[in-house]
Amino acid sequence: MPGPSSIQERLNGLFRPIFLIVTGAYYFAQTLVMEPLLLPKKGLTPLRYTSFATLWMKYGKSMSEEMPPQLLDMMRTVHGVVLDVGPGSGEQLHHFDPTKIEKCYGVEPAKELHPGLRKAAIRVGFGVRGEGSGREGCGEYVVISAGAEQEELIPALAKTGLLGASGASGGVFDEIVCVRVLCGVPNHAETIQGLYRLLKPGGRMVICEHVLQQYNLLARVMQIAYMLLGWSFFMGGCCLNRDTARVLRDAAGKDGWKEVKLDVLQSWAAIPYIVGHLIKQS
Ligand SMILES: C[S@@+](CC[C@H](N)C(=O)[O-])C[C@H]1O[C@@H](n2cnc3c(N)ncnc32)[C@H](O)[C@@H]1O
Repeated sequence: MPGPSSIQERLNGLFRPIFLIVTGAYYFAQTLVMEPLLLPKKGLTPLRYTSFATLWMKYGKSMSEEMPPQLLDMMRTVHGVVLDVGPGSGEQLHHFDPTKIEKCYGVEPAKELHPGLRKAAIRVGFGVRGEGSGREGCGEYVVISAGAEQEELIPALAKTGLLGASGASGGVFDEIVCVRVLCGVPNHAETIQGLYRLLKPGGRMVICEHVLQQYNLLARVMQIAYMLLGWSFFMGGCCLNRDTARVLRDAAGKDGWKEVKLDVLQSWAAIPYIVGHLIKQS
């Protein structure tokens, strides 16, 4: 695993999360002031999610400028019927080739991000029902207002007609794309197992996720410190300390995956990443 190329890169990898926590705290305070009725009416959780959505609308684009080249190569080859998990306001959509995609279901619980997501889908050429028929030869992008957890996702997909209300035994997606989202889904392992079941035999999961630091002691200490300082609270429920590679591997149970290729990036940073794919047995 390669180290940082400069001291500046190492310091950035260790300390940059502080700036994100401070920014998150600022947006939380701003939401509290601007939407004071939300707290007594709905409680703290919706307020936290609204504040993160506002932060993401402002900084999501700049936080998406340098995505790993391995991810971009994979995204260009995504094809068929696709589940795009937590696409936000569509910052990654321009990496898809919409002529290879028949239908892409973007499952995004933050409604505030949907207008941006639809605009991004149209911009890259997808058709979006009621808003544009898309460029010739390009597939359709369907925005779904739900989380990836089974109790939300299955009924939402059933409403689109893709699944029966009880789910699908054989899987319905050729590809499931998870970019910076599994860190925040509730019931991590069960949600990932549910996604595995929705994958067709031979289907591929495309993964770019930050994970538990288990490669560098100082970075691990920093990761624990950031969680204690409220990272998860201010960052829309994002957890820094999930061992997503292990959970993904285990999701296939005794069948095992046909192929797993997950590279670790920035193994020396407080927020290391895994990037790669898992292919289901045919
Ligand atoms: C850090 S953003 C990443 C957005 C996009 N995937 C990207 O990388 O540009 C995380 C996204 O996951 C969404 N999200 C949060 N909880 C989710 C859930 N339970 N199921 C699906 N998406 C979720 C958030 O609303 C947000 O849009």
